Amino acid sequence: MKKAIVLAGGTGTRLRPLTDVVCKQLLPIYDKPMLHYPLATLMLLGIKDILIITTPKDLSAIQDNLGDGSELGINIQYKTQNAPRGLPEAFIIGEDFINNEPVCLILGDNILYWGQLNLLWNECLSVQNGAYIVGTHTKEPERFGIIECDRNNKVLSLTEKPTNPKSNIAAIGLYFYDHQVVDFAKQLKPSQRGELEITDLNNIYLNKGTLKAKFLSRGTTWLDAGTVNSLMDASNFFKIIEDRQGLKICCIEEVSYNMGYISRNQLLKLAQKFSGSNYGKYLEQRAKNNDTE
Ligand code: TTP
Repeated sequence: MKKAIVLAGGTGTRLRPLTDVVCKQLLPIYDKPMLHYPLATLMLLGIKDILIITTPKDLSAIQDNLGDGSELGINIQYKTQNAPRGLPEAFIIGEDFINNEPVCLILGDNILYWGQLNLLWNECLSVQNGAYIVGTHTKEPERFGIIECDRNNKVLSLTEKPTNPKSNIAAIGLYFYDHQVVDFAKQLKPSQRGELEITDLNNIYLNKGTLKAKFLSRGTTWLDAGTVNSLMDASNFFKIIEDRQGLKICCIEEVSYNMGYISRNQLLKLAQKFSGSNYGKYLEQRAKNNDTE
C-alpha cells in the first residue's frame, strides 16, 4: 500500500473556543501540532503518497505548515471537505488520488505512540481483497465503535457507541482498504445524523467476509485529544516520555531522516528552519548523531 488519506476536517466543537482560533489538528500536543502525529505514523509505515483533506477554512494554515511534503521527502496533496458529512466521504473526495489502488485512512486527530511497528502491519499494508480495521482495548466501550471478534480475530460485529458493548475493543481511526473502497463508499446512504458512517462502510466488507481486525499491542498507546482534558493529557504523556528519553516522538523531520526519505544535509537544513528553538537544536543533534534507539 503506497497511499494514505489523512482526514483532518470536522468542527472540533468540544474544543471551543480553542478551535475558533485554530483548527483542531493544528493544536499543540506538547511540542508539535497534532497533525504531525498521524503524519509520522504514515511515514513510519512507509507510506509517502498522502492526501490531506481539511475544511476550506483551514486549508491554507495546514498547507503553510506542511507544503507539498518535498522537504520531508514525501508527496502531500490537498483537498477540502465542505462540511463534516462523515469519514467515508474521504474516499469520494479522494477518488482521483486513490486511482483504483488500495488506500489507508487515518484521522487527523489520531495520536499513536508505537511501542514497535512490527511486521504484523505488513498484512494490513498488503491487503488486496478486503479491509483491516485496527482495535485497542478500552475502559469506556460506550464511547467508541466496538469490535466483536472470534478467537481468530475474525470480525463478527461492529457497533457504534453501544449501550451493551459486546467487547472492550474499540476501533481506532486507522483503516486499510482495498481498491473497492471508493465504490463501496458511493453506495452508502447518510445515517439519521446525516453522515456517511464508517461502520456502514466496514459492514459492507464484514458482510462479504473480508473484514479483518488488527490489535494494538499493550506497548502501543492510542490517545484521544477531542476534549480539553484529553488534549492536556496527551501533551503531558509526550512531555514525560520526551523529557525522560531525550528523544522526540513523531518528530516528522527525524522520522523522515530515519526512514531514509531525506539526507543528513536535508535534515540539517530543516534544523536551520527552526533555529533558535530547542526543536531546531534537537534536529541538528540527530543529524550529527549516529546512535540508534
Ligand atoms: P470527530 O471527533 O467526530 O469530530 P470533531 O473532530 O470535529 O470534534 P467534535 O466532535 O468536538 O466536533 O471527528 C474525528 C476526526 O475526523 C477529526 O479529525 C475530524 C475528522 N472528520 C472529518 O474530517 N470529516 C468528517 O466528516 C468527520 C465526521 C470527521
